[in-house]
This record gives sequence, C-alpha cells and structure tokens, in this order.
Amino acid sequence: MQFAAKYGPWALITGASEGTGATFAEALAARGLNLILIARREGPLAELAAKLRELGAQCVTASVDLSADNAAETIIAAAGNHEVGLFIANAGADTNGARFLDSDISNWQALVGINVTTTMRLCHHFGQGMRARGRGGMIIVGSGAGYGGLNGMAAYCGAKAFALTFGEGLWAEMRSHGVDVLNLVLGRTDTPAHRLALEKSGQAIGPGMAQPADVARVGLERLALGPVYNWGEAPDQAGMSATSADQRRARIIAIEAASAQYAGRKA
Ligand SMILES: NC(=O)c1ccc[n+]([C@@H]2O[C@H](COP(=O)([O-])OP(=O)(O)OC[C@H]3O[C@@H](n4cnc5c(N)ncnc54)[C@H](OP(=O)(O)O)[C@@H]3O)[C@@H](O)[C@H]2O)c1
Repeated sequence: MQFAAKYGPWALITGASEGTGATFAEALAARGLNLILIARREGPLAELAAKLRELGAQCVTASVDLSADNAAETIIAAAGNHEVGLFIANAGADTNGARFLDSDISNWQALVGINVTTTMRLCHHFGQGMRARGRGGMIIVGSGAGYGGLNGMAAYCGAKAFALTFGEGLWAEMRSHGVDVLNLVLGRTDTPAHRLALEKSGQAIGPGMAQPADVARVGLERLALGPVYNWGEAPDQAGMSATSADQRRARIIAIEAASAQYAGRKA
C-alpha cells in the first residue's frame, strides 16, 4: 500500500515545532499527508505550517502544553473530524537535568504527563479510528534511558520505560488490525532541546549525534516493521537491554559516569 493510503490522510505530531518533530512533518508532507502540528509556541508552528502549505499539505496547528491535565482533550478537539492515520508521540525530553530529589515534583509530574498520560490517551483515541479502518500507524519516540534506570535521569527513565513497554504491547494488540506501532528509540540527537540541555550543563556539542532528518527518514522506513528500532543498532544487537538482576545492576553502574556528566554533575 502506498504510504499516504496506509497512514493518511492526516498525521498528528506532538513536539512538531522544531527538531525531530518538525522534520517528521516535512517528511510526511513530502509523502502527501496533511499535518496536525502540536507544541506550545505558536510562532514556530505557524512558520512550519506556512512552509508545509507551500508543499501542498493542509495544516492545523494547536498550541498545547502536553503536560496539562486536559492536553489530550484539547488536541482531540483541534483534530476535529480529520481522519488521523498516523500519530507520532515525539515530544518528551527531560529538560530538568537534575537528580530526582533536586527538582520540584511538579517537573517530574509534567514529564510523566507528556510521556505517559497524554501519549497513552492520544493512542487510545486515535487508535480507535485506526483499528476501525484497519490501517494506520503510531510512532512513539523513545530513549535508550527507557531500558533501565540511570543516575540523574530517574523519572525520565521511568517515563520512557512506560512508553517503550506500552508501545510494544500496542504493537502486539494492533498488528492483526493493520495498524503499525514503532518505538523509535533514540540516542543523542542534534535537536534544539538537546543543544540547550548541553549548554545548560556546560557541555560541548559533541560529534556523532544523529540528525533529525535521518531520524524522520529512518523512523518512517521502520514503521511497518515495528515494534522497536534502536537508533544505530542492528536488530539483533543486545547492547541496550539487560534482564538479569546482575546485568541490570552492572548496566546502571557502567552508564553512571556518562549519565552524571549529562546531568552536569560528578557521579
Ligand atoms: N535529542 C536527543 O538527544 C534525544 C535522545 C534520546 C531521546 N530523545 C527523544 O526524542 C524526542 C524529541 O526530543 P527533543 O530533543 O527534540 O526534545 P523535546 O523537548 O522532546 O521536543 C521538542 C519539541 O517538543 C515541544 N515540546 C516540549 N515540551 C512540550 C510540552 N510540554 N508541551 C507541548 N510541546 C512541547 C517543543 O516545542 P515548544 O517548546 O514550542 O513546546 C518542540 O517542538 C523526545 O521524546 C526525547 O525523549 C531525544
């Protein structure tokens, strides 16, 4: 089936105003889809929508804080009667850069709101239409942090672990209905949010980060394959996962130095 026939006519993307979200939008407009673009800042959303309209796509934008209790309802209202055949849960980075006890609990609740509650509610709503139509797709943008707890990222790891296993379960439930689900698990990626986090913790912009355009291209290519794509890894590479108690402990300790550096602290 052609991409737009399988995943169109509308795609809804959270965190669409920049970085991976914006490049997903551009890639989808080029494939003939219309876009519902969600983020907080109206200006960048309007600029992107103007660009996409020039490519022939119809666009709806909505300024929504994904951590708000009513975020899902607001987004569903903004989508109106448009038939959403592809949902991309893209926003969800940890901008706190702190250990759990060193940031206000409201910041962690917001992170959970974006990655867990709002993502789950949107999958529930848009998944109904996809299942009824027997086609569609969902991409949940994840992080290697979801494979186990890490120093300086406790709540982020927990939120991403939920998203990962939730997405795997969805893949299992939806695949017989013609709906594809992919957990697109990223490593360091050159987004404005990540650059800001590096800047805040006094770190240099290192080489070798994934580029958003590549993330969007590979994500769309891998969507039909689901349920997980670990960025830059072969499908049979076991590096990210740890299942035994000893492996999990060893993984936390082995990554601790790098994670502490990310949070701008010593281990
Ligand atoms: N960049 C990396 O190195 C990296 C590594 C691993 C995984 N990931 C994952 O990749 C995804 C994208 O990450 P990212 O680096 O681009 O940062 P991000 O903060 O997740 O995404 C940035 C986009 O999300 C929007 N956004 C952020 N918070 C929002 C909120 N509360 N409500 C509505 N929109 C919000 C931003 O626009 P507004 O500011 O206008 O709202 C912007 O469009 C995330 O799920 C992240 O966990 C990223």
